[in-house]
Order: sequence, then C-alpha cells, then structure tokens
Amino acid sequence: PAPVPSVCGLPLKYVSLVTLAVQNALLTLIMHYSRVSAAPSETYSAAAAVLMTELLKGSISLLVAFSRLDCSSPAPAPSIWNPRTLFYRFRRLGKEVFRPDCWKLSIPAILYVIQNNLQFVAVSNLEAATFQVSYQMKILTTAAFSVVLLRKRLSPTKWLALLFLAIGVGVVQIQSGGSSHSESASHDMNALKGFMAVVAACFTSGLAGVYFEMVLKNSPADLWVRNVQLSLFSLLPALLPIIVSRNAPTGAGAPVVSLQLFANFGVWAWATVAIQVLGGLLTALVIKYADNILKGFATSLSIVISFLASVALFNFQMTLTFILGSTIVLVATWMYNQPEAASSTSSSDGSAI
Ligand code: C5P
Repeated sequence: PAPVPSVCGLPLKYVSLVTLAVQNALLTLIMHYSRVSAAPSETYSAAAAVLMTELLKGSISLLVAFSRLDCSSPAPAPSIWNPRTLFYRFRRLGKEVFRPDCWKLSIPAILYVIQNNLQFVAVSNLEAATFQVSYQMKILTTAAFSVVLLRKRLSPTKWLALLFLAIGVGVVQIQSGGSSHSESASHDMNALKGFMAVVAACFTSGLAGVYFEMVLKNSPADLWVRNVQLSLFSLLPALLPIIVSRNAPTGAGAPVVSLQLFANFGVWAWATVAIQVLGGLLTALVIKYADNILKGFATSLSIVISFLASVALFNFQMTLTFILGSTIVLVATWMYNQPEAASSTSSSDGSAI
C-alpha cells in the first residue's frame, strides 16, 4: 500500500483538518476586520481580492503540479534545468491542464467565484461570529446536493442533525436579525443583506463542492492539475465584476474607485487574500486526504475559535440566544459526523485522485 503522507510524523489528513479549522476562524475575523475597520468609501475592492486569490492559488498549484509530473521517460536527463527536460515537462503539463475534460471545472469555478464574492458581502454585513454560525448551513446544502447528484443515502440521524442545524441557525438569526449593532461607527451593517448573501453562498458552496468531488472521483487527473484548471476558469468570472465596475460602484455595496484596482489594498486586505489562498489549497488537500464530511467538522470547530475571539476583539455581545443557537449548531454538526454502523457514506477517499 502507498505510504500515508505525513508532516513531521503526523498524518497529513489530520494536519490539514486542524489547519483548516484555524484558517476558517482566522479568515472570518481578518476578513471581517479588513472590511469594517475602514469607512465604506475607503475600503478595498472585494472583486480585486477574489481575482488576486485565484491568481496566487493558480500559480502555487501550477508549481506543485509541475514538480509532481512523472517524467521518468523519455531517457532521464542530467538535470531538471536541462532545456530538453524543461521543454518536455512544460509540454506534459500543458497536455494535462488542457485535457479534453478540463471544461468540467468551469462549473465549480464560476460557482466558487460567486461564493467568494458573496462571502465579502456577508462578512461586511454580519458580526464575525454570526456569519460563521450561519455559514454552517452549507452542511445542509452539501448534503442536499450529495443526495441529488451523487445519489448518497443519509441515515435518519444525519437528517435529524440537518434539522437541528437549520433550527440552530434560525435561533442565531433571531438575535442578529432585529438589531444591526455595529462595532464600527463608520460602517453600517445590514443583517438581512448579510444573511441573504450567506444563504446564497451556502448554495454555491454545496453545489460547487459536490461537483468538484464528482469530477475528482470520476477521473484520474492529479488534484493539483484540477486546481490549476479551477483557477484558470475562475479568471474570467473574477474579472467580470471588475470590468463592470468601471461604470458602477463595486464591492460589498461600497463605492470603490475602480480605475485603481488595488486602491486601499492595505495590510489587512493582503492578509485576507493570503488566508483565502491557504484555505483554497487546504480545502483541496482535505478533500483528497480526508473527506467532505470531516471538512464540515473542522469548520464547526472554527466556530468556537472565532466565537471566543469575536468577544475579545470586536466586543461581540454574547446573548443567551446566541449561545443557545451556537450550541444547537455544534451539537448538530457533531451528530452529523457520527460514523455510521453499516454502510459507509464516506464521500471521498481520494483514491481516484
Ligand atoms: O466553504 P467551502 O468549503 O465551500 O469553500 C471552499 C473554498 O475553497 C472556496 O473559497 C474555493 O474557492 C476554494 N477552493 C479551492 N480549490 C478547491 C476547492 C475549493 O480554492 N479545489
């Protein structure tokens, strides 16, 4: 059997899951802070951040895919930097990336770009912790799309967990829906707009995740090649709002001087992009070495982290309703992740990757 990949002796499966939980919590906090800390007229363009993320993620994936190419033939060259070897490798990589089925990645690519833009709208209009809890509804949409598209069967416990999840998110919304108390005097938050964006992002997350899983499982292509294809197909939809915004205000309802794409792109904006890049790469690794169900568990762990940090950093008012709602979400997530006795519903073991 193939050796289990590890980092410092720890299985990559768990390293990637724990890192994803920390990444998720950090992303919510830093993204939220980067949006609400400046006045709306001085905030950066969300569309530019999404585009930058795709460019960086695509470049890193390209490098990894390049280094992983199996170039044992033709006759081994003396060095990787030998022009003949380089040319051979580039041609191989080009063939891999532009394989006939590469168009399949256009669907999750478009969905992820929409999701990544919606995330900015949501995080700009909701408290960090409220956003994090509401975003758990993607477990619900992922399950629904898995049942419909992957013909996965869910046990009664899992359906019950999904019901609890919906109730928990509803309870959290009771407290955030009524008042839009903002920690930043300069930034007006619109809870309804934020919630609508979260709901829409949950739909694209579920559909894109399941579609990506379908493509990965049904083809032998390398995961990193698939990531390159995903980023390539993301470029056009990511550029679209930037082109359109030359004539209209952009971002999360914030007017941006669109001619200067990276206007107001400060340290926190770059930090948001860096953490998004890390998140994308980790998501890919988690899908390969763990599975989508464990991914849901990792993100629910991140609720606790960002929940506590929100109280400390943003003076988030912890109400009884919020604690109740969050607890229901956590219990539901735990229930959903209970292993099943009989049939294995593991979504992906990465064997096809
Ligand atoms: O929350 P969810 O798991 O749906 O978020 C997935 C995130 O990971 C999106 O931002 C998406 O762009 C990114 N992603 C990626 N590469 C993949 C799969 C997802 O960059 N192969």
